Amino acid sequence: PGILILNGPNLNLLGTRQPEVYGSTTLAMIEDACRAHGADIGLSVTCMQSNHEGTLIDAIHAAKGGRSGLIINAGAYTHTSIALMDAVASVELPAVEVHLSNIHAREEFRHRSYLARVALGQICGFGAQGYIMALDALKAHLEKA
Ligand code: DQA
Repeated sequence: PGILILNGPNLNLLGTRQPEVYGSTTLAMIEDACRAHGADIGLSVTCMQSNHEGTLIDAIHAAKGGRSGLIINAGAYTHTSIALMDAVASVELPAVEVHLSNIHAREEFRHRSYLARVALGQICGFGAQGYIMALDALKAHLEKA
């Protein structure tokens, strides 16, 4: 099965972006680790990042048919984008929401996630490890489905 890992705005800056909040691991390192872990558990992982809401929506649409599941860290669009939520609902693919930081321990405006309404579940607060946890969660879900 193929999994698409989508990262949204500002996540291209991981490594140097507020390392006290998001850690010092770069997005390239996270993506490498996800491809490697995916290979270990039998999931073929494709990664993409965009700072643009419409590009993320197009990628979600394109995943329908070709992919078995989605892992999404939509960055700040998590808290604002009904359009991204609708895109995930439209393609009917199992989706796991990931955040590096514990969004519930941060500012009030980060507590609401539109994506959580259409995701299998949310993993937040575990840094880069959260993506690996999301792969394991999708693997277990696909096996029981
Ligand atoms: C984030 C949390 C969001 O609130 C923030 O806007 C981000 C990153 C995280 O991974 O912790 O860009 O999604």
